Amino acid sequence: MLYSEKVMDHFRNPRNVGEIPDADGIGEVGNAKCGDIMKMYLKIDDDIITDVKFETFGCGSAIATSSMATELIKGKPVSKAMELSNQAVVEALDGLPAYKLHCSVLAEQAVKAAVKDYYDKNGIAYDPELFADDDDDEHGHE
Ligand code: FES
Repeated sequence: MLYSEKVMDHFRNPRNVGEIPDADGIGEVGNAKCGDIMKMYLKIDDDIITDVKFETFGCGSAIATSSMATELIKGKPVSKAMELSNQAVVEALDGLPAYKLHCSVLAEQAVKAAVKDYYDKNGIAYDPELFADDDDDEHGHE
């Protein structure tokens, strides 16, 4: 079996699909190679991510990883979302085939883009290094 049961589960029944109209942070990212797009919405109260939803136009792994990413950050402080790595998402899904790892990178980037949007909108200072774009490295090895 190429995909773990968890991947198939999150692909078939993605959690937290949709949009949050009054989101506090919205992140949209895409992968130029495959053309997949991910949009992440965060509702944040008192530094806690009280709600998170996503819309993904992409492959099954992109859907499964964005679904898992929402589960991992929901109810957590914003700082936890910033620590979310694509490896953590992959581990939570019991693995992904190597050539699908870039899909999980997209999920990590979407979450971080949404946090950045939240910081920007609220005038919260942050280290730009945290959001350094490392696209080329991460997507180069498919
Ligand atoms: Fe593009 Fe999976 S193939 S995100």
